Amino acid sequence: MSTSDFYETERALSEYLLFHYGSPEQALPWPFGPAGALDYPVRCVSECLEMARLPARPRALDLGCAVGRSTFELARHCAEVIGIDYSHRFIEVARHLQQHGSIPYAYVEEGHLTTPATAAVPAEIDRRRVAFEQGDAQALRPDLGAFDVVLLANLVDRLRQPRRCLVSLPDRVRPGGQLIVTTPCTWLEEYTPRAEWLGGCEEDGRPVRTLETLHGLLAPHFTLSRTLDLPFLIREHARKFQWSVAQATVWIRR
Ligand SMILES: C[S@@+](CC[C@H](N)C(=O)[O-])C[C@H]1O[C@@H](n2cnc3c(N)ncnc32)[C@H](O)[C@@H]1O
Repeated sequence: MSTSDFYETERALSEYLLFHYGSPEQALPWPFGPAGALDYPVRCVSECLEMARLPARPRALDLGCAVGRSTFELARHCAEVIGIDYSHRFIEVARHLQQHGSIPYAYVEEGHLTTPATAAVPAEIDRRRVAFEQGDAQALRPDLGAFDVVLLANLVDRLRQPRRCLVSLPDRVRPGGQLIVTTPCTWLEEYTPRAEWLGGCEEDGRPVRTLETLHGLLAPHFTLSRTLDLPFLIREHARKFQWSVAQATVWIRR
């Protein structure tokens, strides 16, 4: 299996359903663990979205939405939200959640031992505002239109051509609209050829950071409003977790 197929696997599906919809007790069954890193897909919206800037009946786009929790969270504030992901499996499950509100799954305790669970969209969210489609964030369909909010949560360091995606975004964000980019800057050659990395490398003997490259690509069209550090926790099994800190930036289209 190549790493780019990871997001089609049962393991990824189980990890991401728990990451997006698990209760605190399911996602982190240790009272001494980093509880502040829970609910990341919810916080990408609640902490980053600048609500006061939203026009009437806003449109939002969640690129690399996985199983859709941030997409649903955007629907608390936006009249129409589209979630797009490259993984057919993730989109199939996100669509099921949109249609039915919940889905059964199992998450890993240890080895092949699993615990059954149900992933559920919060009942107060209007699921009719949300649609999911399979697609490539680097080559969006031309008739997708423009949006008041575009979210890229932990996506750029999983793309083969992150620059190609980022330079297409000025056309996707309406003037005054906001672009939210979060990334833990985990650059890996399995996902992104080294020449395409936005940071974590050297250029002419000088260290290059992701934020600096993002600024170079986005600043001609966007004003940087805020940067935030967002911790997140992905449970692999009951005794193994990935704790990361994403760098979030909020950009306003001029
Ligand atoms: C690290 S996950 C982040 C998912 C979600 N935004 C979150 O924060 O939990 C990266 C996601 O990007 C998706 N992805 C990878 N390449 C993509 C592409 N070219 N277009 C759209 N989605 C892509 C993967 O399928 C996966 O769901």
